[in-house]
Amino acid sequence: GTIIHSVSVEEVEIIDRGLLVIGLDGKILLFQKGIAREDVISVLSGSGFNPRALLLRVLKRGEFLIPGFIDTHNHAPQWTQRGTGRGRLIMDWLNTVTFPHEARFEDPEYARETYADCVDGFIKQGITTASYYGSLHGEATKILADICLKKGQRAFVGKCNMNINSPDFYKDASAEVSLQVTEDFITHVRKIDPKSTLVTPILTPRFAVACDRDVLSGLGRLAAKNSDLPIQTHFDETEQEMEITKELYPEFANEADLYEHFGLLNERSILAHCIYVNEYEMGRLKDLNCGVAHCPVSNTTGGSFGAAPIREYLRRDIKVGLGTDSGGGFSSSILDAMRQAFIVSKARELATGGADKHLSLNECFYLATLGGARVCGLDQKIGNFAVGKEFDALEITTRKEHPSIITPVEDIDSMEDIFEKFLMSGDDRNIARVYVRGRSIKNQP
Ligand code: GUN
Ligand code: FE
Repeated sequence: GTIIHSVSVEEVEIIDRGLLVIGLDGKILLFQKGIAREDVISVLSGSGFNPRALLLRVLKRGEFLIPGFIDTHNHAPQWTQRGTGRGRLIMDWLNTVTFPHEARFEDPEYARETYADCVDGFIKQGITTASYYGSLHGEATKILADICLKKGQRAFVGKCNMNINSPDFYKDASAEVSLQVTEDFITHVRKIDPKSTLVTPILTPRFAVACDRDVLSGLGRLAAKNSDLPIQTHFDETEQEMEITKELYPEFANEADLYEHFGLLNERSILAHCIYVNEYEMGRLKDLNCGVAHCPVSNTTGGSFGAAPIREYLRRDIKVGLGTDSGGGFSSSILDAMRQAFIVSKARELATGGADKHLSLNECFYLATLGGARVCGLDQKIGNFAVGKEFDALEITTRKEHPSIITPVEDIDSMEDIFEKFLMSGDDRNIARVYVRGRSIKNQP
């Protein structure tokens, strides 16, 4: 059937009559274009496959495959608070809305129930890979990793480190405890998924405001010792957060120098927001090959407004992906994040007098797929369709008989039109199937 994917930042390839063969290990074994239905069997035989050993799935007109969405920034324990606390500045929002929600994950039973809903919710939205912040609790965060593995979602999962500037009811008891729980959590994930086929532990200092020097340097040591561990934190997100960081860490002129000093800024770093990044810091992000998690929904509807300079990051070839930032972001949909990225980039074009041209829809789609894969260091594995990559994909339907808000018009719409309608007006009702490593995972127990 029709297969659509990004081949570069700007270019989306729409393949008519594509033929993909997926192995039992979830890898793409064959990818051919322009194969007529009646030629499929002979092409398969000619490529060394036994067609009778394959399960054949044929897409109809109005149906197409795209790569799975990648959510580079997501707070699993904020699942229950999405949409609340608008209008509060970051510290007030954390203290009054977020921390009481996250604190409940001290109860493993609550964690089991809520994280099952949360992971199902994101799978339903076509998120095949998510980089999750957990709560500060070791047990609950292990449960989150177990659930991702069981439900078949690819995930980075992190125990959140926060031992200062947090309320007594929700903070790590000490730097030592914070680091010890982190190491124990890493050991658990290594045990349940030793080769990181799906789940990978990620170092997760919440932000410098909530971490003292011992925690940051301890995490830096862990990052140095485990060269495969990704790292995530919030970076230059709001003016209030940046002012407090400055007061706490006056020895650093900016956040790039701070995180670099503690060994937390490198090609494995996923930096959420990156709104107020100065010229010097942009240079560091580029030189150190850090990734940016652009979260336009939370950036424009949380307590302060910020439009990250995504055009400038792309110009400099700094890695960028999209994040829902659920629950700072009110939506668990990457389609919403794509559309908001588009809108925010329009605002930036206006604000920069046209210097920063708005993102195209193709670029937004890239950020949601291949760009996110680059940010996660997974672009050799996922992000688009190529022989040797793993098959993480969404089967999209825009057919009339399917419950949906999209209205394709048979004799007018080209495939490009239908794809654009899906990007601008589609939602989870159009996501018929979700595959990770070749396995269908939507609506699985
Ligand atoms: N900074 C520190 N913690 C958070 C969080 O949970 N969400 C957002 N958006 N920013 C943060
Ligand atoms: Fe966040």
